[in-house]
Amino acid sequence: MPDANPAALDFLLTRQSVSAKTLRPPVPSRAELETMLTAAARVPDHGGLAPWRFIVLERPALERLARIAAARGAALGYDAEKIGKGEGQFARSSLAVAVIASPAISEKAPEVEQTLSTGAACVSLVNAALASGWGAAWITGWPAFDRGFAEEALSLAPQEWVAGFVHMGTPGSAVGDRPRPALDRIVTWVAA
Ligand SMILES: Cc1cc2nc3c(=O)[nH]c(=O)nc-3n(C[C@H](O)[C@H](O)[C@H](O)COP(=O)(O)O)c2cc1C
Repeated sequence: MPDANPAALDFLLTRQSVSAKTLRPPVPSRAELETMLTAAARVPDHGGLAPWRFIVLERPALERLARIAAARGAALGYDAEKIGKGEGQFARSSLAVAVIASPAISEKAPEVEQTLSTGAACVSLVNAALASGWGAAWITGWPAFDRGFAEEALSLAPQEWVAGFVHMGTPGSAVGDRPRPALDRIVTWVAA
């Protein structure tokens, strides 16, 4: 039996992301990030395939991604607002981790299970940042789904895709929690 961990349970009952737009420097150190990434890699993973990987994006890399997003958005014919959203995600960020789904061919774990494990890695990374006292948010946005961006900005292999960008930093302002679903709406108890 695992030991009860009320502090961990309390964290899970109260955790909330911090809007990426409000995140500012300072950001976690490399040593802190290594701890968070170790936690993120400790997720259920059928077959032990590690079907995900992490690309840590420091400030100069984020500036480069902002430039690529602006160029891609223009090439795709997006309007200024949409280009600005894609570019701004990187232009205003001080630190982000791109979580990359890197599926393997496996008899044991179909791709959907590998995708679920990748989502779990994203949540664990957000939670590890929050539990370390940093603000964090999991964002996608159109650059996450644009193949040209993924290849030019992140050099992804053909089978890989972006599960999300986890932005981290110091919260600029306190925000209230968002509404959470009522249990009676989402839970069915089956006694027999
Ligand atoms: C897969 C995924 C993609 C998301 N992409 C965005 C996004 O592009 N922009 C955004 O504002 N929020 C996005 N969100 C929502 C943020 O993560 C949001 O901060 C989160 O829902 C807050 O929930 P929490 O407080 O329970 O962590 C996304 C969430 C998920 C799960």
